[in-house]
Amino acid sequence: METVTLNNGMEMPLLGFGTYQLDENATAAAVLAALKTGYRLIDTAQYYGNEQTVGQAIRQSGIGRDQLFITTKTPLSGYAEAKAGVDDSLMACGVDYLDLMLIHWPVPNFMETYEALEDTVKEGKVRALGLSNFNAAQVQRVLDEARVKPVLDQVETHLLWQQAKLHAYLTEHDLVHQAWSPLGQGTPAILNSPALLALGAKYHKTPAQVALRFLIEEGVAVIPKAQHLAHLKENLAVFDFQLTEEERAQLRQADQRRSVEGWPQSMQVEADY
Ligand SMILES: NC(=O)c1ccc[n+]([C@@H]2O[C@H](COP(=O)([O-])OP(=O)(O)OC[C@H]3O[C@@H](n4cnc5c(N)ncnc54)[C@H](OP(=O)(O)O)[C@@H]3O)[C@@H](O)[C@H]2O)c1
Repeated sequence: METVTLNNGMEMPLLGFGTYQLDENATAAAVLAALKTGYRLIDTAQYYGNEQTVGQAIRQSGIGRDQLFITTKTPLSGYAEAKAGVDDSLMACGVDYLDLMLIHWPVPNFMETYEALEDTVKEGKVRALGLSNFNAAQVQRVLDEARVKPVLDQVETHLLWQQAKLHAYLTEHDLVHQAWSPLGQGTPAILNSPALLALGAKYHKTPAQVALRFLIEEGVAVIPKAQHLAHLKENLAVFDFQLTEEERAQLRQADQRRSVEGWPQSMQVEADY
């Protein structure tokens, strides 16, 4: 697994396993299968209601805690609520520390939430902080006021919404750009894209694999979700081929700055540029 060095020196896998809206009964099996297949980053959230199941699968895998990278997210607004939320996440996941805690979206009073998270870093409960669904102006406010620099911004990013402008901003400020819904939630507009199909035929890869490879080569970390074992395995096998600069330039042309999720409003300014 290739990794990226975060601005605090930590190594983070470039590709992780997403867990949003996995079927409740299938979550444990899917996370366990992901870990057995070689995924080491698991992306969960308080909002997903599956931290406990993710924690169970992690313990069942037998993989050492220091080999894993656990990301979770808080949707809580305010110092006390967010601080208590971190303890709840630790308890639910059944771990002593979390690798990365994100503010799930720009909640009201997000600086108060951020301050609480900074204190959990000081207490050794969380190793790194990040943001999600923050537009560039909101990230800038955190950079201006924070004591602990965020390491990344996790935003909707895929072939149809490549977030080029936000990517440049994040790169300039040494934050990683991490893609949620890197397959556009499996939309046929991506999985049946003629450009991806053609490149897939050339490299003996599927459109999903080319879509993930393209993002990784563009410097974007990805966390695809897959309930089906074949998909889960396929998505990990993207480190044995390379697109040409010309092919990447062609795929950049597919950008429509179009959300498949239509959420949240905070990101609309990035689509409107
Ligand atoms: N921070 C945020 O606000 C936020 C928001 C949304 C998502 N996320 C995170 O990002 C993760 C990924 O996003 P997502 O789950 O919305 O969507 P996604 O990963 O873009 O797409 C998942 C869909 O694609 C299908 N798929 C996966 N691999 C495939 C393959 N190789 N070939 C064909 N189809 C494939 C899956 O099918 P099967 O499941 O049937 O295999 C599923 O229907 C989430 O799980 C979550 O962890 C974060």
